[in-house]
Amino acid sequence: MNKKRILTGDRPTGPLHLGHYVGSLANRVKLQHEYETYVLIADVQALTDNFEHPEMLGENVREVVLDYLAVGIDPDVATIVLQSMTPEIHELSIYYMNLVTLSRLTRNPTVKSEITQKSFGKGEFDDEEEHRLAALGVNPQVPVGFLAYPIHQAADITAFNAHLVPVGADQAPMIEQTREIVRKFNALYGETLVEPAALIGAVERLPGTDGSPKMSKTLGNCIDLKDTAGEVEKKVRGMYTDPKRIRADIPGTVEGNPVFAYHDAFNPNVDEVNDLKDRYRAGKVGDVEVKKKLAAALNAFLDPIRERRAVWEARPKDVDELILESTRRARRTTGPVLEAVRDAMKVNYFGHLD
Ligand code: TRP
Repeated sequence: MNKKRILTGDRPTGPLHLGHYVGSLANRVKLQHEYETYVLIADVQALTDNFEHPEMLGENVREVVLDYLAVGIDPDVATIVLQSMTPEIHELSIYYMNLVTLSRLTRNPTVKSEITQKSFGKGEFDDEEEHRLAALGVNPQVPVGFLAYPIHQAADITAFNAHLVPVGADQAPMIEQTREIVRKFNALYGETLVEPAALIGAVERLPGTDGSPKMSKTLGNCIDLKDTAGEVEKKVRGMYTDPKRIRADIPGTVEGNPVFAYHDAFNPNVDEVNDLKDRYRAGKVGDVEVKKKLAAALNAFLDPIRERRAVWEARPKDVDELILESTRRARRTTGPVLEAVRDAMKVNYFGHLD
């Protein structure tokens, strides 16, 4: 019974969408039986850019858990972990902060683009020091907690000594940062931590309904797992397609067309998809038909997910209890890992408290 471990997770910032599904959820559902799987709800990480409105997070956590249960994460097989109730993660982060330089943090490509997108601060600089940092390309008004969240994420992964981390492509830099921290820790204090590997989903990136390269809540271009059939039909009807194709008899481009990216990812009827592509390229099919068939395929995919969600939605107390019980179970893993870390670092002068 010595299975390898998986740790993966999400920020509870809103409902999970089809991009999450192809990027990581599908992998988790598949792998939960082969690996000892932990799925973390990163509410403390979500705080790093929502610290002014923490009141939303509790409800978001419940929603994410419902999405997990709906897609088939089995709470008797995988362990759902609430980050804020796992103090070992936070302690580990503080130790790791000594192993990472400021320049390493400002280099992280995912964090870099998030900082640009979110435009932290008021954009005007207060003094000499802020101007100096801005001239170096560092936004001086980024909260330290935000800049450092990759360190906290490294703690998420290593508090479980996970071997594998199934994530979307945008998370690859976080796993790389984690590997660096592990190598440095082990070199300094002796072999203690497992160096994890990333497992990127089958579809690297699902475009948004507006044709932008990524489905994201901030861009408002998502199809959520909890959308009703009617909402899905409406979103698909409004989807971006080949803009040059103003009439059905104009030959269209399939490559890079989000409607076909979704067909490829979610329509199991390959013959239907190939026929639509052929006719689209030849100018022999209207967008309406392509989209109708897409909405039908998406709804067929989402129906069983909606059904499982409804069952749990009717039992909110059980969902809350599940989160608590599951996190308790997770701490039976993180506790011993932290003892090993303190022993390796010799932060154990007086033995252990309990
Ligand atoms: N940063 C991830 C995201 O935004 C969420 C996350 C937090 C995570 N901790 C993790 C993912 C640990 C994998 C492993 O999607």
